[in-house]
Amino acid sequence: MSSSSGILSLLPLLCFSLLLHTTAIEADPLSHVCFNSANFTANSSYDINLNRLKTNLYDQTPGWGFALGSVGSNQCQAFGLSQCRADVSFQDCQTCVAEAKDALNKICPYNKGGIVWFDNCLLKYLDRDFFGQIDNENKFCLLNVNSVNDPASFNKKVTDLLSQLSLRAYVNPRLIAYGETMFDESTTIYGLVDCTRDLSNDDCKKCLHEAINELPSCSGGKKGGRIVGGSCHVRYEIYSFLNF
Ligand SMILES: *[C@@H]1O[C@H](CO)[C@@H](O)[C@H](O)[C@H]1NC(C)=O
Ligand SMILES: *[C@@H]1O[C@H](CO)[C@@H](O)[C@H](O)[C@H]1NC(C)=O
Repeated sequence: MSSSSGILSLLPLLCFSLLLHTTAIEADPLSHVCFNSANFTANSSYDINLNRLKTNLYDQTPGWGFALGSVGSNQCQAFGLSQCRADVSFQDCQTCVAEAKDALNKICPYNKGGIVWFDNCLLKYLDRDFFGQIDNENKFCLLNVNSVNDPASFNKKVTDLLSQLSLRAYVNPRLIAYGETMFDESTTIYGLVDCTRDLSNDDCKKCLHEAINELPSCSGGKKGGRIVGGSCHVRYEIYSFLNF
């Protein structure tokens, strides 16, 4: 008994140290999308504007954890935003936005639009103004494959926690909330919900509501899960995953 619970309690630590390891060396994107609706050619005005935009975002994001902007005009205007997770340090945010920039340069070299997600940040750009609009298209699910013993009551606890958090997040200027709840005597559920800060409070609430509704079909009955989108993100785990 005692030896098996000892092994189990090591698991979160192990995951944590692996995460630290990958962020220290080179993180892989969680996911990405290249928007194929329009492409540009090397050294075109769009290319130059997009590069300036990415540099601006890299310079501006770490200070407040969020930046948006556009460069150029008419057909050649590039719009973009980047955001770091609220618990990420200035340094790690800077590193993440640099990696996001490099990743999209590599993966979507001539697409006018793209989005990439890392654990610590997201970066998105497009050849049209997308600020303040809920992104319903770019979304994915991540889950811990391990199942819980009592899925019905566990799912309910998760939904209750994340719903409460979303009520706090949408009135928070940084559009984020995190917290925890006890599931049983030995299990704590940790939750995080956040929106990109270009959204209005009401749209943040709407985006989170939808993501929470989608979570059961992603990770119902599983020990951890996330819906990660272009405008908002919800996550729960049975270990603490934030660095506050
Ligand atoms: C843009 O390029 C991608 C391949 O990189 C291609 O699949 C897509 O069809 C192109 N889009 C247009 C509008 O030419
Ligand atoms: C783009 O410009 C760079 C430097 O100005 C040059 O080295 C490169 O060959 C150009 N690429 C194309 C496809 O024109």
